[in-house]
Amino acid sequence: MPTTLTVRVFFEAAHRLHNPAKPDEWNRSRYGKCNNLHGHGHNYVLEVTVGGDVDPATGYLMDMKDLKEIIGRTVVGEVDHRHLNHEVAWLADIIPTAENLAAIFFRRIAPALPPGVVLEAVTVHETDRNSASFRP
Ligand code: NI
Repeated sequence: MPTTLTVRVFFEAAHRLHNPAKPDEWNRSRYGKCNNLHGHGHNYVLEVTVGGDVDPATGYLMDMKDLKEIIGRTVVGEVDHRHLNHEVAWLADIIPTAENLAAIFFRRIAPALPPGVVLEAVTVHETDRNSASFRP
């Protein structure tokens, strides 16, 4: 796709990194403070990049307002101000790392896009210093 369009949206959520299939000591040594029992919060930044052709009539690849509405409906509205381990049914069986969130958010956003627009990448920033991206 020759052109890409990226939007950035924000949400706040809590999570705990814990693999219930592994012993507590394994979890503590892998995840450190991120394994604390009651979780901790992040001010997440979600970046979504779509690709496609620019419509000569509008000059748009797609209307950014529509893209934000799709991200809000499929992801942000479900996760904002939630505990990701306990309150979001479609996250119940995953460890909510930035890597896993990027992949599952990708799979929720992609099918909601209009015809001719493809999802190129989803990036989840947990902090200013770290992020994970999923690109199929
Ligand atoms: Ni964390």
